[in-house]
Amino acid sequence: MRHLLSTTDLDRDAAVALLDTAEAMAQTQSRTIKKLPALRGLTIVNLFFEDSTRTRISFEAAAKRLSADVINFSAKGSSVSKGESLKDTAQTLRAIGADAVVVRHPSSGAPHRLAHAGWIDTPVVNAGDGMHQHPTQALLDAFTLRRHLADGRGDLAGRHVVVVGDVLHSRVARSNVDLLATLGARVTLVAPPTLLPIGVESWRCAVTYDLDAALTDDVDAVMMLRVQRERMTSGFFPSEREYARRYGLDGTRLGRLSDHALVLHPGPMNRGLEISAEAADSPRSTVVEQVANGVSVRMAVLYTLLAGDLAGEGDA
Ligand code: CP
Repeated sequence: MRHLLSTTDLDRDAAVALLDTAEAMAQTQSRTIKKLPALRGLTIVNLFFEDSTRTRISFEAAAKRLSADVINFSAKGSSVSKGESLKDTAQTLRAIGADAVVVRHPSSGAPHRLAHAGWIDTPVVNAGDGMHQHPTQALLDAFTLRRHLADGRGDLAGRHVVVVGDVLHSRVARSNVDLLATLGARVTLVAPPTLLPIGVESWRCAVTYDLDAALTDDVDAVMMLRVQRERMTSGFFPSEREYARRYGLDGTRLGRLSDHALVLHPGPMNRGLEISAEAADSPRSTVVEQVANGVSVRMAVLYTLLAGDLAGEGDA
């Protein structure tokens, strides 16, 4: 595996191998000595052109726990504000000594361009590009689901995951639908018609507008999506009040879930809009656990790209 750009590039074996490696990394984190020497002497650059809390910090923690050095680059306050291009920025960071680049960018396809334009020769990890993909988020979500629903092993065959909300603007939804289907899960997307993308019929999932009808007894997990107000250039339909009423996960809907069903959210959450405080803070909620699991998953990704048996064997 040379790069991690999209969950569509991961077949079942590659996805399970990454999740198994993440499980091994998590075991090391529960011991007294947390730091592994695997990436000693290497430098990881976090190249963030969009805001982030969880992804940037957990990539930094993951790299440091593998003994790599980390350079954090934020477009705000950099020469990007003077018009410097992605190419020149990347080449500058490579000249400074980057061995891998973790990139978040508002433009869909930017990490792919970075990986394949010949500007730099390091592995590239997509940390979220526009409305396209967020592969490490999907991997940490799958890791969390697997720990609860499949004893931390194998795939998610036969499990039913309902993904709810602003699918139109969500790279998390796209990445999760791909990866969950690859891992054998059944996925149902729920959204108002105005927040579904053109072509969603061809995705590997069922689609409905009716959340209450989708919350059946066989649902193993409900994944709530953040309403992305910042990407809504022409207003928000339906109104926020209507959205919360029809698509929000509140206490009543929470109470209708099966005893074992989980509630996921990638964060950051709009409490009171897509998810109530009662649901976000309930014992079913894995929101905080997802963040912790993100470090193990990102350790697995960096290790696989830079030190694993498959390092350098093509894209993923
Ligand atoms: N889930 C996620 O990507 O969060 P951040 O934007 O805080 O990184």
